[in-house]
Amino acid sequence: MSLQGRHILLGVTGSIAAYKAALLCRLLKGAGAEVQVVMTPLAKEFITPLTMATLSKRPILVEFFDPENGAWNSHVSLGEWADCMLVAPATANTLAKMAHGIADNLLLTTYLSARCPVAVAPAMDLDMFAHTATQENLATLRRRGVAVIEPGDGELASGLSGKGRMAEPAEIVAQLAELLSEKKKSLQGKRLIVTAGATIEAIDPVRFISNHSTGKMGYALAEALAARGAEVTLVSGRTALPCPEGVRRVETRSAEEMYQACVREFAAADGAVMCAAVADYTPEEVSPVKLKKGEGEMTIRLKRTRDIAAELGADKGNRLLVGFALETDHEAENAESKLCRKNFDFIVLNSLRDAGAGFGGDTNKVTLIDRAGREELPLLSKAETAERIVDKIESILK
Ligand code: CTP
Repeated sequence: MSLQGRHILLGVTGSIAAYKAALLCRLLKGAGAEVQVVMTPLAKEFITPLTMATLSKRPILVEFFDPENGAWNSHVSLGEWADCMLVAPATANTLAKMAHGIADNLLLTTYLSARCPVAVAPAMDLDMFAHTATQENLATLRRRGVAVIEPGDGELASGLSGKGRMAEPAEIVAQLAELLSEKKKSLQGKRLIVTAGATIEAIDPVRFISNHSTGKMGYALAEALAARGAEVTLVSGRTALPCPEGVRRVETRSAEEMYQACVREFAAADGAVMCAAVADYTPEEVSPVKLKKGEGEMTIRLKRTRDIAAELGADKGNRLLVGFALETDHEAENAESKLCRKNFDFIVLNSLRDAGAGFGGDTNKVTLIDRAGREELPLLSKAETAERIVDKIESILK
């Protein structure tokens, strides 16, 4: 593992794990890197600048300027110098400020100016780490390309035990070396289809049968997959959303049109994520002219549509297939039966009984179910839910 000649900007923030930054600095130097340490003012309370300066063999930077002589510490030139910026330990506070563009110390202004890859190694108490605010900030940073070096599970400074311990320095150096060597994004070269939105089944030229799907979840997934380098085709039904950047959209209306597009696109794909709300029934006949009202009742006969997911599932080979299930009762049993019936690798279950889940909103609360078990996610934004689903997709495609 070599970081020979690499310029690493090591940001240290005010966490008890700052004591590990000394070993981290030594390991980075040992791997051949040049290390410039930038500390937040609070970090100095946890580890002395003298320790870090001695190990990095460079003066430590904390303030915007040297109070002795007024020399300016240019965050812009620091950003230009660096091949990579690593914030370790990264506190909940610094992560929040990074996600929101707050620039009230040298470390943050440097982050905002840096054009190089950025990695963060979070360190905090388990509840702070699990908090939706922190998770959403991490999701925002991931979406913008920041590599998150996951904290470990174990004993914490508070005496509690759980996820929040900063990754061990050796692990951080290993992940950093990988990050710098592979330039590639994690889903580069993968072709994926996402279906999204509602289908429209025409009754006559004016009326149709449809449903409440807005397409937000599917569009968030397409965006998250594209951000990780996948070549995404969004087979979209009715929605008011703009096509996400870097995504190819195929617009469809009926279940039949969506079926045709999916079969065509799946032939050359590595997988599909079936997020669309597809009508299960369509009018047996579509009137070519507007139907006129009469005196009595009116009946429209419906026939079954094709189940797109099930048909792709029957011929999926070793391609990936992810399904969605929106249920109102016997949620897990219904989802598990769809998982098997449609041959999904995993299924994302939404329950309309959960507050904050379902149509239209910006949040979702889902359970990921595969043949090995269930993983219940907390209430998250649709963007963060998409990131978590894409994490699972990535682990399968690897
Ligand atoms: N789906 C599909 N084509 C259809 C119907 C559903 O691709 N004609 C996909 C959805 O996109 C979703 C999954 O299948 O990924 C589950 O859809 P759902 O409608 O909940 O399942 P059904 O099999 O229709 O079950 P039921 O109507 O009994 O709830």
